[in-house]
Amino acid sequence: MANSKYEYVKSFEVEDEVMPPNLIVVHIDRRDFRRFSEVHEFEKPDDEKALNLMNQCAMAVLEEYPDIVFSYGYGDEYSFVLKKTSKFYQRRSSKISSVIVSFFTSVYVTKWKEFFPLKELRYPPSFLSQIVCCASLEILQAYLAWRQRDCHVQNQYNTCFWELVKKGGKTEMEAQEILKYAKEQDRNELLHQQFGINYNGTLALFRQGTCIFKTEVEDIVKYNEDGMPVKRLRRKAGIFRSENIAGRRFWNAHASLLKELGNFSEDCFKTNPDYIRSFLFESKLMPSTWIVIRIDGCHFHRFADVHEFNKPNDKQALGLMNLCAEAVLEEFHDIVFCYGVSDEYSFVLKKDSQLYQRRASKIVSAIVSFFSSMYVMKWKDVFRKKELKYSPSFDGRAVCYPSNEILQDYLAWRQVDCHINNQYNTCFWSLVKSGKSKSEAQNYLKGTQAREKNELLLKEFGINYNTLPLMFRQGSSIFRVKRENPTLLENDASSVEKTETKIVTEHCNIIEQSFWEAHPSILD
Ligand code: GTP
Ligand code: MG
Repeated sequence: MANSKYEYVKSFEVEDEVMPPNLIVVHIDRRDFRRFSEVHEFEKPDDEKALNLMNQCAMAVLEEYPDIVFSYGYGDEYSFVLKKTSKFYQRRSSKISSVIVSFFTSVYVTKWKEFFPLKELRYPPSFLSQIVCCASLEILQAYLAWRQRDCHVQNQYNTCFWELVKKGGKTEMEAQEILKYAKEQDRNELLHQQFGINYNGTLALFRQGTCIFKTEVEDIVKYNEDGMPVKRLRRKAGIFRSENIAGRRFWNAHASLLKELGNFSEDCFKTNPDYIRSFLFESKLMPSTWIVIRIDGCHFHRFADVHEFNKPNDKQALGLMNLCAEAVLEEFHDIVFCYGVSDEYSFVLKKDSQLYQRRASKIVSAIVSFFSSMYVMKWKDVFRKKELKYSPSFDGRAVCYPSNEILQDYLAWRQVDCHINNQYNTCFWSLVKSGKSKSEAQNYLKGTQAREKNELLLKEFGINYNTLPLMFRQGSSIFRVKRENPTLLENDASSVEKTETKIVTEHCNIIEQSFWEAHPSILD
């Protein structure tokens, strides 16, 4: 298809490939766990159902992405380890980390009702993700030891804290004070002496966390005519627990881990957290530049087919994308503008945004995860009669643009793309619907110019391209506008704000300067 003069903006996209032999770990954790667990009344200190839901999501992630060979999680976090030879998304860090967090979130929302049938999901849950590069297997081992140590320390503290509050009659402040200097042994004794609890006898799910990985199991695939089962070896994700997941005994006992990652030659019980933090490096986006987060549906070609979206444009599907983007704009105040077309959306963050100290992975994951969450939550509101057949996912990336002109060129690039694709797809599907095969339609359109396509539509199919819905031709732009507060009475001297900010969705030409002149506050 034709290239536009705006294509040069692609050169601002930077490569973020994780070079082999680094092992890739995707770490995800919940964005605002405290608030989420309070609003949804999770049991304290641990909610078994909530943990089981997290484990089910991790299980789904392992089934979806064959390159993930090991995972470990507890509380509100999970780590996924890719096999050492992985070529997943050409080892591009933002793609890998965003796709996994997006899928995890969308499964979380999909499965919520299974685990909490009587609890309404009150707001969209979202997770942050980042890539941890482990330069060697020993570093991965140290990382796992560190996460499991954290699981234990947090769980032991929280168990003491909530026993003191719930059964010991202490206030939260008093419980905090009591535990301030208590060492590990003191906490065990406190639990034993005051509350008759043997800490080591409490649920392993809480104390040790959960490992999920695939092993070869014998599965019955069918039964012979004589009723005998036919078995076959199949790789299946399963749950495993151990006191020390970074120990040789646990790790080296599993052939799949040895094959895909290697064996632990030494034991590892404790690690120095400063050593670990040193490789938890996260890059920051260049200061004083516009940040654009572009998300794109993964394999939406298939998703659209399975859900029988209208071709080439489905009003409801696009409407759902817009609903989600509006919610993102409400949630993240630093976003000043969004532009969406087909299965993609671009979110523009203001130049001086300090969101997550401009850490790319945090910003991308927060937005892509929140968007995915919303997409699943709102599905039923939009498609009342259509079941969501599987959990969708989106990938995301962050790109910086140094000036208003280049940012506008970026948005123009997306809108030109929208127009070119839409005009082509309208012709293509009109030809197919008229009886041509897909390859005939493709050949027919090869090398045709915009004018010829419009003529074809008009002459052959009686379609005047310029009268097709604006949303299809120009995509959707979402931004805030200030307007007079309608609740303000004349001569009102009260503290009610004189203007209010409203989020609007428009389908307009954003290539022309007149749009930006009419809305100077967006890029101001
Ligand atoms: P990746 O993004 O590379 O994972 O592949 P993809 O299949 O998502 O393709 P891409 O993002 O390049 O293009 C989006 C695809 O989503 C389109 O080619 C369509 O097949 C589909 N799609 C998006 N919006 C609509 C719609 O409104 N109706 C229909 N029928 N399909 C749509
Ligand atoms: Mg896509």
